Amino acid sequence: MRAHEAGALHGDLGSRGPAWLRTPEDVNALVPQLWARTVTRADDGALTVGGRSVRDLAAEYGTPAYVLDEADLRARCRDFAAAFAGADVYYAGKSFLCKAVVRIVAQEGLFLDVCTGGELAVALAAGFPPERLGLHGNNKSVAELTRALDAGVGRIVLDSFHEIDRLTALARERGVRPAVLIRVTVGVEAHTHEFIATAHEDQKFGFSLAGGAAFEAAVRVLDEGVLDLRGLHSHIGSQIFDTSGFEVAARRVLELQAQIRDARGVELEELDLGGGFGIAYTTQDDPSPASDLAKRINKIVESECELAGLRVPKLSVEPGRAIVGPAVFTLYEVGTVKDVDGIRTYVSVDGGMSDNIRTALYDASYSATVAGRVSAAEPLLARVVGKHCESGDILVKDEFLPADVQPGDLLAVPGTGAYCRSMASNYNHVPRPPVIAVRDGESRVIVRRETEADLLSLDVG
Ligand code: LLP
Repeated sequence: MRAHEAGALHGDLGSRGPAWLRTPEDVNALVPQLWARTVTRADDGALTVGGRSVRDLAAEYGTPAYVLDEADLRARCRDFAAAFAGADVYYAGKSFLCKAVVRIVAQEGLFLDVCTGGELAVALAAGFPPERLGLHGNNKSVAELTRALDAGVGRIVLDSFHEIDRLTALARERGVRPAVLIRVTVGVEAHTHEFIATAHEDQKFGFSLAGGAAFEAAVRVLDEGVLDLRGLHSHIGSQIFDTSGFEVAARRVLELQAQIRDARGVELEELDLGGGFGIAYTTQDDPSPASDLAKRINKIVESECELAGLRVPKLSVEPGRAIVGPAVFTLYEVGTVKDVDGIRTYVSVDGGMSDNIRTALYDASYSATVAGRVSAAEPLLARVVGKHCESGDILVKDEFLPADVQPGDLLAVPGTGAYCRSMASNYNHVPRPPVIAVRDGESRVIVRRETEADLLSLDVG
């Protein structure tokens, strides 16, 4: 069958929505796990966040805008820090990074992982303590490694033999001994509700465990004696809802750790199990609280260490989207509503794939609600689309909205804190939306809206 030219997402015309999507009893009701903690509907029917009405936020800052519930973000940082007490909890810079968030993460006592010179620059510009930074990446440049050494980045996660050689040479030149981890590819791949443990490890990150590269890398670093090898690192995927994948990953990494001890008499002190804790994008997702995840993961590490005859290493985790994802919603204004006869209702908003590429790129599912008012109208199955010149420009594939949804309505899409602003583009020369932080009745711009002048400033003619 010929694929639809706008992509697979667009090829299901005529669908009445996925089987899991239920008609809501009350189309105005907020499903708690989808929303940041301070979000409620006020008496006038409009959503409020951090004590501010979305109507006022839209009037003051315009739409589209990412709205960050600062109390929720801080609470999530604290929840993970408390749940994984004794472990280093890294905020994943790739999920969303700006100076204000760096400062929040620092104040809440978290660590921060960055994976490019750009992310490192933001962290340093905001004064993040360098010893609490981790640097990732499968192709870090010499300039990035040099900058990390000069800044005193706490952990560098080694990802290739070329990088071991590069960093060893740079460290020798400077007479420094950076603390490093070795990224191990354990052959466990986790996505959403399932994981696969495979023998082959066909991906660009890390050193293969099964092929022996991970062991060889550890031995090379130890024998060279220039870099300070603190431990092993494994990251198995994203949107993971149960801990069985971590169990297999931990077992495999700890077996390698025992092998290194047996070969070189060195028992590594640290273990980083990466991130991937899932969040709720729709009613179908039911993430575990941080405390449950921590209990299960700590238990896994303890019992696998016992099996391997190892002391329990100091643990690190990198929860990524689970910290900032649910703390943000995107606020749009509806521009047009189009009933495509008997097929579907398209609700177009003033943003789109440039502020959230995840639906088009990953076939991700999102939810939405009319945010500026409540409605007594019946629920209507709708598709929320953007303003880009592309049929695949879909934000929310299927959602029930009130049947009287109309131009001028505010629409909020929750769960957009991670990988939306950080993956935003200027497609069709649409300026990227601002990020507005709201807390205790106060709001402030933490990333300003891009302007056409910003876009033109790069165009040197
Ligand atoms: N640690 C490492 C080493 C990672 O590579 C990642 C994500 C994380 C932690 C955080 O993972 P999370 O819990 O946020 O999934 N753009 C994609 C996600 C790419 C994730 C890459 N690495 C998305 O929008 O779903």
